[in-house]
Amino acid sequence: MSELRVVPGDLVPPRRERRHLLSVEDLTRDDVERLLATAHSFAVSQERETKKLPTLRGRLVINLFYESSTRTSSSFELAAKRLSADTLNVKSAGSSVDKGESLKDTTLTLSSYDPDVIVVRHPEAGAANIVADNTKARVVNAGDGKHQHPTQALLDLYTLREAFGRLDGLHVAIVGDVAHSRVARSLVQALRLVGSDAILVGPPTLVPNGLAPVSHDIAAIADADVIYVLRMQKERMLAGASFVPTLREYTARWGITPERVGAGQRVMHPGPMNRGVELDPRVADSPASLVVDQVRAGLVVRMAVLYDLLTAGPVAVETAVGVA
Ligand code: NCD
Repeated sequence: MSELRVVPGDLVPPRRERRHLLSVEDLTRDDVERLLATAHSFAVSQERETKKLPTLRGRLVINLFYESSTRTSSSFELAAKRLSADTLNVKSAGSSVDKGESLKDTTLTLSSYDPDVIVVRHPEAGAANIVADNTKARVVNAGDGKHQHPTQALLDLYTLREAFGRLDGLHVAIVGDVAHSRVARSLVQALRLVGSDAILVGPPTLVPNGLAPVSHDIAAIADADVIYVLRMQKERMLAGASFVPTLREYTARWGITPERVGAGQRVMHPGPMNRGVELDPRVADSPASLVVDQVRAGLVVRMAVLYDLLTAGPVAVETAVGVA
């Protein structure tokens, strides 16, 4: 005779339940499609005079930022507000903090307010996982070291679809400091997920092998649909290490100037831009640039991510039975 027993301690989240967004690896192609479709409907709602929706009224979103941020932190805050959630913004300089332990303590402290979502940015890879391990809230990784930045990848996909009308078969040249870039790591995975591809272009000191095809020749950008430009992320470089002889030389060899942008090519940059270093201002401000579209996409994509985590809900907890 068999007897069904529910043992609370044995509750296993169903495989498809997405409790957190820590990495692009957490996403399936279906997840991407659903999130982009939701973001699109939020974009339509943002064209109305009254932009606030009641969807997440009474929910609490905590933005925990241990690293500087303009676009990501402002768009998460505004996304939560546009969905009527309460927001709490906690910033820390981070530099003098013992990262692992204090992050755990901060998470435990903030979790006592019963947040629904904690959005976290931190200079250490794996920080978002530490937060997720210490809270009942859902966790969104807003950038952990040079590891992952999944909402940036999603907003980039959204921008690509708006610009090209499709996501598959696109060829993206990611140019610059890939070595220190979580944006590049997440984007390479996201492009692969939707049937597009990336080539990494830059000097050997800044472009690692093993993520995607690599070229050390700027001419390799010529056949890309999109030139995706990265800044030199000095805060993640080892002190004293030299990755390029001089900025002037870097700009001459790798800077994206009008002469290097072909007809029909589009240019993206996650920000913050160093105008005149990796990207010529004439390109940044040209019709080829999708930079402003990316920022606008950031708001609606982050609304979609918050909405999806909090309202799509877990799949029925049907696996939570033990058979004796
Ligand atoms: C990026 C980041 O912080 O990872 N910026 C962003 O989120 N838009 C890229 C960068 O800092 O260069």
